[in-house]
Amino acid sequence: MTADLVLTDVTHEAGGRTLLADVAVTFPAGSMTALSGPSGSGKTTLLSIAGGLVRPTVGAAAHGEEPTWTGSGDPRPDVAFVLQVYGLVPVLSAAENVSVALRARGLAPAEADERALAALGRFGIADLGARQVEELSGGQMQRVALARGLAVGAAVLLADEPTSELDETNRAHVLAELRAEADRGAVVVVATHDPAVVAACDHHVSLDDGRVVLDERGGSRGSAVDGLAPRPPEAPEAPRPAVAARPAEAPRPAEAAVDGSRGSAVDGLAPRPPEAPRPPEAPRPPEPVAPDPRADDGEDPHAAFRRPPGAP
Ligand SMILES: Nc1ncnc2c1ncn2[C@@H]1O[C@H](COP(=O)(O)OP(=O)(O)OP(=O)(O)O)[C@@H](O)[C@H]1O
Ligand SMILES: [Mg+2]
Repeated sequence: MTADLVLTDVTHEAGGRTLLADVAVTFPAGSMTALSGPSGSGKTTLLSIAGGLVRPTVGAAAHGEEPTWTGSGDPRPDVAFVLQVYGLVPVLSAAENVSVALRARGLAPAEADERALAALGRFGIADLGARQVEELSGGQMQRVALARGLAVGAAVLLADEPTSELDETNRAHVLAELRAEADRGAVVVVATHDPAVVAACDHHVSLDDGRVVLDERGGSRGSAVDGLAPRPPEAPEAPRPAVAARPAEAPRPAEAAVDGSRGSAVDGLAPRPPEAPRPPEAPRPPEPVAPDPRADDGEDPHAAFRRPPGAP
């Protein structure tokens, strides 16, 4: 489905504070929107609401006709996140982290594994597929998270500072891959502090203290990735149709089940202990879990980012 993602008069309060105030913004399908603003201005909170992890105190977010908030804090299958804290399972390999997200959407294990490797190849890390995530560098983990977010071919891709740990070359490749997602019709929103990322986007929305202070349409697409083709895949890759929505009883999307394993300046949380390793030949993928129900109580917009997949 190619439809815009629209936030209508969103206000969000938590901990007695107003984190977002009267936010009305449209993220168009088929283009990239940069979301900028100082640290603490509300970017992550806005993405959480836009993607249905958090119900706003007032107002709503909708993708086409459908509200993104489903009542549970589970994002819908048409929404994929690349999280600021990555949300990877440290004791699984890079390829398993991506494959889990695909299996959770109903792909057979063999196909999921194949597509996981191809997705890692999009970011130049197919050779790291077998490595445990906890052994990777920050920039490598960030690219695994990107591979997982993009592998599923979702109609809405919300990326929270996806290039913060990358060098210029990798940043340019990531921007080219995000552009490819927009070119196939997806809504792409990128929270960022990086002017080069803003310049590479079509639209620019800026927040300050929870309010939209700039909403610039078009004309801002700049030079950062112009002329740069996406990195050729390192693994043979079939055409990438969107992964079908999972059946109602299937496990929840892994990319929505996130953790604080890398922590961040924002959440400041210690990582939770990893769950026990799973053998690669296990018949079922790890069961990602719903975001923390605290996300529903209006108290903690980041609650959904704090629990690792598979936690009780
Ligand atoms: N559970 C909470 N209760 C109250 N305030 C919170 C909570 N979580 C976050 N905040 C506050 O909400 C504001 C917006 O946070 P948010 O993480 O959305 O900012 P951000 O723009 O993503 O920042 P950064 O660039 O550092 O990632 C901050 O002032 C933060 O301290
Ligand atoms: Mg943030």
